[in-house]
Amino acid sequence: MAEDLGGYRKSYEKNTLTQEHSDANPFNQFKKWFKEVEESPGVDEVNAMTVATIGVDGFPKSRVVLLKNYDEAGFVFYTNYTSEKGEAISHNSHVCISFFWPNLERQVIIKGVAERVSEEVSTAYFQSRPRGSQLGAWTSPQSDVIADRAYLEKRLEELETKYEGKEIPKPDFWGGFVIKPVEFEFWQGRSNRLHDRLRYTPGGVNWKLERLAP
Ligand SMILES: Cc1cc2nc3c(=O)[nH]c(=O)nc-3n(C[C@H](O)[C@H](O)[C@H](O)COP(=O)(O)O)c2cc1C
Repeated sequence: MAEDLGGYRKSYEKNTLTQEHSDANPFNQFKKWFKEVEESPGVDEVNAMTVATIGVDGFPKSRVVLLKNYDEAGFVFYTNYTSEKGEAISHNSHVCISFFWPNLERQVIIKGVAERVSEEVSTAYFQSRPRGSQLGAWTSPQSDVIADRAYLEKRLEELETKYEGKEIPKPDFWGGFVIKPVEFEFWQGRSNRLHDRLRYTPGGVNWKLERLAP
């Protein structure tokens, strides 16, 4: 059953990352990289990020979600608050998000503290979503065990009937989390595994910028 994957080898040569050419503010640096990835060929789901939480069982767990907004207040994604990740964050608000952008050979890792966005912000975003996604949020008891797929299809049909011709309200159990960063790491792949890694941590008025060994 052993599969040898040792032959998968790639040399990263597309870009460099130096302290001199990095923005002093990590939010600006993130924006610069995000825009460059957005505009680069071959990109898919630039806003997909992995969010890692510490579960009630003490184990870390990570899964992909979509970044829906970011500014100096933090990085926002939406989910079901009663999901496994929702419960984990209620228990321990320390999380880590990361982005892997293979087409530009980049990774960004952000440690932060998660908190719920306001009901107003969640409602405004919920109302901007397509009707199918709104019904999906009501339909799925995210992370619960369900008997079969038919359970979801039946519930969706019932909800379609219930809300026919009506506005769909945001469920109380659904909304956004904003992650307020305490540390950023920007990783740029380089040749011979001597990658560039720059870390920003809070340092008085400004952020402290340090180079890490790859
Ligand atoms: C590309 C992609 C985007 C996703 N976006 C979201 C999202 O924005 N919110 C969400 O709750 N789940 C999203 N998911 C599903 C999650 O990865 C996960 O399966 C779900 O949130 C349940 O996770 P949990 O049981 O650990 O809470 C996405 C999955 C993928 C692959």
